[in-house]
Amino acid sequence: MNIKELLSAKTQAAMVAVGLPADTNTAVTQSTKLEFGDYQINGAMAAAKLLKTNPRALAQQLVEQLNLGDMADKVEIAGPGFINVTLSKSWLAQQLAGAAQNPRLTVSANPAPQQVVVDYSAPNLAKEMHVGHLRSTIIGDALVRCLEFWGDKVIRQNHMGDWGTQFGMLIAHLEDKLAAGVDLEQVALADLEEFYREAKKRFDDEAGFADKSRDYVVKLQSGDAHCKKLWQLFIDTSIKHSEEVYRKLNVTLSHEHIKPESAYNDMLQPIVDELKGKGLAVEDQGALVVFLQELADKEGNPSPFIIQKTGGGFLYATTDLAACQYRSHGLGVDRIVIFTDARQALHFKQVELVARKAGLLRNETAYEHAPFGTMMGEDGKPFKTRTGGTVKLAELLEEAVSRAAEVVKQKSTDLTPDEMAEVAAKVGIGAVKFADLSKNRTSDYMFSWDAMLSFEGATAPYLQYAYTRVSSILRKAGVDLGFSAPLVLVEEQEKQLAVKLLRFEETLQAVMKDAVPNLLCNYLYELASQFMSFYEACPILKEGVEPELKQSRLMLSILVALTLKQGLELLGIDVMEKM
Ligand code: ARG
Repeated sequence: MNIKELLSAKTQAAMVAVGLPADTNTAVTQSTKLEFGDYQINGAMAAAKLLKTNPRALAQQLVEQLNLGDMADKVEIAGPGFINVTLSKSWLAQQLAGAAQNPRLTVSANPAPQQVVVDYSAPNLAKEMHVGHLRSTIIGDALVRCLEFWGDKVIRQNHMGDWGTQFGMLIAHLEDKLAAGVDLEQVALADLEEFYREAKKRFDDEAGFADKSRDYVVKLQSGDAHCKKLWQLFIDTSIKHSEEVYRKLNVTLSHEHIKPESAYNDMLQPIVDELKGKGLAVEDQGALVVFLQELADKEGNPSPFIIQKTGGGFLYATTDLAACQYRSHGLGVDRIVIFTDARQALHFKQVELVARKAGLLRNETAYEHAPFGTMMGEDGKPFKTRTGGTVKLAELLEEAVSRAAEVVKQKSTDLTPDEMAEVAAKVGIGAVKFADLSKNRTSDYMFSWDAMLSFEGATAPYLQYAYTRVSSILRKAGVDLGFSAPLVLVEEQEKQLAVKLLRFEETLQAVMKDAVPNLLCNYLYELASQFMSFYEACPILKEGVEPELKQSRLMLSILVALTLKQGLELLGIDVMEKM
């Protein structure tokens, strides 16, 4: 059920009936205040300009043509020509009937499933995953879950960085160790961070080491078997680290979703040749460059996009062009969404421009970079450990669970140790994820343990707790989630809760359109808060409540529980029956 879409279709019919073109913007929105009803039709104002008539008069004509049947109790014209629609309780109750038995709840069938590549997580191997990749992993996974629930076909691609210059450096360092007689088994690859640091130091300080590293990259990229063998060692260890994090984090990424940079290697030379052949790429100081006038700076200098380095090495950029070709032509997808931090915005603009010009991206494939801001510490600086090092994700998640255990212990006393451990894991991981997901994606966000583990405000614990509240009401009433009864909406709180439940699909649509899971977080928080007000105003278990009303209220509570559970699942957050 999508009330907004339904109202928009009905408004469109009314607009055609009064002589407006069929594509006139109906501008239907959810009302911002109760006094404006439940939905507003705002299209009359712009349409009146088009017809050069009075907007209020046009609104009046539209209302006369608007065929809402039993949907609305009241349709009112306000201000310069707003049309406020108040939905009827009986119609709302009808729309909710059967939702509890439907695995999609109030969400209708997807009329036009799309194929979508979601490129997310994508850590750079040879280093342990750090917080920079946390946001990509968490936000990307939420979008994937929403799209799949809606019925799109999602192809997850973990575009791991396994092919860059850092590998030349690592191989060079490893070679030197081996040459010095260190046994391969003894090289402490398990502590990749440390190994990386050593290599990086030599790269920066030691004469000749950088050149040697660059030679190794070219050797690796041209298929040298020995180099590849050493490289594989780093990759395997590093992937193991990442998978450990995915498991802890409860994200849906697994081994088969890894489509790393190296997978595109064979496509790189042909693409470079093609761009050269088409005259798009030109030689500049030994490198091959596409100059983009579209992205010129203020002085009019075109933006350079390097696709092959002096010496023949390929770049991150070249690989992204190959990925465009593979996804758009090979897989034939309708949409590509890529999650990385905002600093890569220019890169993806360049990739899209070049790929479109070169025909590597079909017009039918949408290409979307979904940037996100930096994760900040409570000191307002980029998130670091106390000693200034990068925070390892695996350790961060362990800390989340142990902090959650402390918080839960203070609140609940009747959990067994096993239950406690389970609740702590769900609350801890849920808190980290929700804190990230609930913020506006593009802003920087402040990582704060106390804020994310609070039971007040928009947090995972608050929502998980709301779910257990409903569960406990149901237990006391002796019914479970399979219980079914007709809905009778009497009080305003009941009606508002019904409207909110029926906005689940509208929320999902908005989340999927712009890859913004924070809207789902807001929705769930508001749903839970509205449930609390409903429960205060509308007794369920108290003596004297008429049986029909009691059953209807239980039914409403069940719909809230199921929607909370489903919504949190779409964010990758688990609920529990008690806490
Ligand atoms: N590995 C890259 C990074 O850490 C992210 C890759 C994103 N995907 C892409 N197709 N470039 O910055």
